[in-house]
Amino acid sequence: MTSKQIELVQGTWEHVIPISDQAAVLFYGRLFELKPDLKLLFKSDMKEQGAKLMRMITVAVRLLGDLDQLVPAAEDLGRRHVAYGVKEEHYAVVGTALLWTLDKGLGDAFTQEVREAWIAAYDLLATVMKNAAAKDAKHQATA
Ligand code: HEM
Repeated sequence: MTSKQIELVQGTWEHVIPISDQAAVLFYGRLFELKPDLKLLFKSDMKEQGAKLMRMITVAVRLLGDLDQLVPAAEDLGRRHVAYGVKEEHYAVVGTALLWTLDKGLGDAFTQEVREAWIAAYDLLATVMKNAAAKDAKHQATA
């Protein structure tokens, strides 16, 4: 990611934070519309889950410029997601629902440039999470 992209992601997320409750509702609504069977994976109260996700994105967005801290946190998160039943192919649909939510939440501020910056940020996080999960699976298979 370029430093300009990091600034765009951080700057636009600041506008989502005040509406994070609605953003979480939009996000899960869209996600389950796209892939209804994912509902089975979410055991905790959706409101609590939504709040957790928003907090995590807030932390991740702030750490984008500090990969030394972001990468180990995302690796741990990726490994925990294996236990939640999350598969590699689920990351794409979650990314789609996130971009859709940002589009709704940000309106005109969600320009093509901002969209590309968010794709880069999500890809970075998702790649680190998926790689850590895959490495874990390989380790378990050979142990
Ligand atoms: C960048 C991507 C993602 C981020 C930042 C993220 C963030 C989080 C966070 C912060 C939690 C709370 C628990 C914890 O910290 O371990 C969580 C739980 C969870 N996430 Fe994610 N997640 C991501 C991708 C995904 C994907 C692709 C799925 C697939 C459907 C998913 C499904 C879940 C489920 C099922 C739980 C547990 C919920 C429960 O027990 O009710 N997440 N996620």
